[in-house]
Amino acid sequence: MAIEIVRATRENAVRLTQIAHSAKSFWGYPSRWIELWRDQLTISVAYVERNEVYAAVDEDAVILGFYALSGSGERLSLDHMWVQPSSFGAGVGRILFDHAVDRAREMGAAVLEIESDPHAEGFYQRMGAETIGEVTYELDGQPRSLPLLLVTLTPDNPPAQHGGE
Ligand SMILES: CC(C)(COP(=O)(O)OP(=O)(O)OC[C@H]1O[C@@H](n2cnc3c(N)ncnc32)[C@H](O)[C@@H]1OP(=O)(O)O)[C@@H](O)C(=O)NCCC(=O)NCCS
Repeated sequence: MAIEIVRATRENAVRLTQIAHSAKSFWGYPSRWIELWRDQLTISVAYVERNEVYAAVDEDAVILGFYALSGSGERLSLDHMWVQPSSFGAGVGRILFDHAVDRAREMGAAVLEIESDPHAEGFYQRMGAETIGEVTYELDGQPRSLPLLLVTLTPDNPPAQHGGE
């Protein structure tokens, strides 16, 4: 499967929102939680236009996943990283992540910060990110802790640990 990374446009906002919802739902969270996350999972036209949002597209220009960077200066955050569930495990996440790291470096960042869904922490670690702590929020009246990971973007540091070699 030939995958290309392209800058997302305003026309993609609805498709990106669908992917974010279906990817998050894949982990089996209660529909009530998905509803509470609705704003976070909605990619508006304004968001696409104001942020660095990149999509992975196949040969037919179908969007399979996307990521977004936020922040400025030396510390950027990976705001979104979603792959459509039917494409999980096919290497789309790796291609997106490598691109995000390269893009963050181009933007002059020294560090890329990731607040991960607990189910995705292993993916980021596989990509070379290091867990440095956790962030705790309240969700539905209960504390919910998310792993906090970092990628250090020194010029000598390769963007990801490529496995399988
Ligand atoms: C996490 C996610 C982005 C990974 O994307 P993907 O396209 O399935 O990942 P890839 O196929 O590129 O996998 C790359 C490597 O990471 C590993 N990996 C993928 N998902 C993993 C996970 N959840 N836990 C541990 N390792 C994982 C793969 O096995 C592969 O390892 P390899 O180098 O040995 O082959 C995707 O599963 C997803 O969108 N999940 C739901 C939404 C979500 O939680 N997003 C993150 C929000 S913080």
